[in-house]
Amino acid sequence: MSDPTSNSTATSNAPARLVVVLSGRGRNLEAIIGAIESGQLHARIALVISNRLNARGLQIARLAGLACAALDPKAFADRDDFDCALARRIAAAAPDWVVLAGYMRILSSAFVQRFAGKLVNIHPSLLPRYKGLDTHIRALTNGDARHGASVHFVTPELDDGPLVRQGSMAIEADDTPAVLADRLMTQVEQRLYPAALADLVDGRVALRDGRVWRDGTIQEHCPHENYDAAPVV
Ligand code: GRF
Repeated sequence: MSDPTSNSTATSNAPARLVVVLSGRGRNLEAIIGAIESGQLHARIALVISNRLNARGLQIARLAGLACAALDPKAFADRDDFDCALARRIAAAAPDWVVLAGYMRILSSAFVQRFAGKLVNIHPSLLPRYKGLDTHIRALTNGDARHGASVHFVTPELDDGPLVRQGSMAIEADDTPAVLADRLMTQVEQRLYPAALADLVDGRVALRDGRVWRDGTIQEHCPHENYDAAPVV
């Protein structure tokens, strides 16, 4: 079988074009911007787009001099209409990768299919555990020893797509849901997403026929990094 991990961005030297889609604080966006600036991620952000006009993530994008757009769901008849407009704006930016970074709306399957194979998300749990919301509370309630995050290709099923990479850290005895969520962000998510995106833009990893390929072979086990040490600031 031929190596399917060939991508236009892997073979040319041009930085991959990313469109980042978000609803909230944009801490993953900050990490992606930092990874591009430090040379860890050979990419440029062609557009940051949000469904919330006053998302902090949009302010971060503006401060970084990035192209931004916001679409207000209230201005559209229904989800399909909104997703259609969102998809048009994204497609106009000619992305190699569409990066969901805290996008808090369920995507229609037409949207997902349109960007299939280049649409990725970060979810704050060790999937398949804790799909959906309140992942930090659920990890604490279950007495888990570790908590983590997953970067995955997006499929129409919520938080169900094939995994690119995972990362985790130990849960501390005095962690509250808020403390755990913040620590997961700075200790795991902000390192994991740039690393996973580098896998993609460098052409090491791709999705073909529903399977993740890494370095020319089907990825049977998703790489898992332990991020137990706090990041050096
Ligand atoms: C992150 O926890 C991410 O895993 C989830 O939404 C949150 C977004 O945070 N999908 P931010 O907007 O990147 O700060």
